[in-house]
Amino acid sequence: MSEQVNMVELYYEERGQGLPVVLLHGFPFSHAIWQAQQAALSDAARIITPDLRGHGKSPAPEGDYTMDLLASDVLALLDRLNVSRAVWVGHSMGGYILMAALRQAPDRIAGVGLVATHPLADAEEKRFQRRESADLAMENGSGDTAFSMMSQIFAPDVDGTSPLAQSMYDIMVNTAPAGIAGAQRGMALRPDSSNTLRELSVPAVIVAGVDDKIIGLDKARAMAALIPGVQLVEVENAGHMPMVEQPDATTGALRGLIRMVQANER
Ligand code: MLT
Repeated sequence: MSEQVNMVELYYEERGQGLPVVLLHGFPFSHAIWQAQQAALSDAARIITPDLRGHGKSPAPEGDYTMDLLASDVLALLDRLNVSRAVWVGHSMGGYILMAALRQAPDRIAGVGLVATHPLADAEEKRFQRRESADLAMENGSGDTAFSMMSQIFAPDVDGTSPLAQSMYDIMVNTAPAGIAGAQRGMALRPDSSNTLRELSVPAVIVAGVDDKIIGLDKARAMAALIPGVQLVEVENAGHMPMVEQPDATTGALRGLIRMVQANER
């Protein structure tokens, strides 16, 4: 990959002061999914919400977005903000990136929030599907991905025509095709991160939607069994997007994490 592709300055928003907390969205979303948590938690910490490479308002160069590359982008953003150590919270692909960052720069991570994510690598069939979906996005645009994700991301009770559902669709359909392709190809290349989580020695919380069709509750429970002392919060009436489906429950879990880290870092 050329040096130029590696140089991406991420768009971000921040609110609040004190302990830095970086909230990483999943695929193919943007910082906007964390709006409720950013507002609610900024009384307790400095909440930083980037748009990952290829997503939201960040640049979308072509190429494979490995989880290592996406983690490097976030570390470079934190350098730019003079943040040497932060709590990292990752939603789904954001969690895969967090696990890559734990290998790259463990000393820079003060606490871990894993939201609707898991540590396993893809099976060969899933890798194939991701490459097909990457090609499709480059040929036809982002509509197919946005449309197919819509049937999977919410708990059954969420009205697919509601303003909330529409806002998630709008984020996905506006993700650049090169961003969709780059992230799909990068996720296909990710390794198993189970050992990374077994070695975790900072406070950690898992947030899992009970009705998550993309990453089932069984995977969240299996992940919890890997992490010493982790708190697993199972959120009722939530699917893959607990931060928007049940914002208060998600905020509460992350507030607990912030408190644990504040006590731990003293
Ligand atoms: C996400 O929400 O980031 C994706 O569903 C993760 C994935 O495709 O594995």
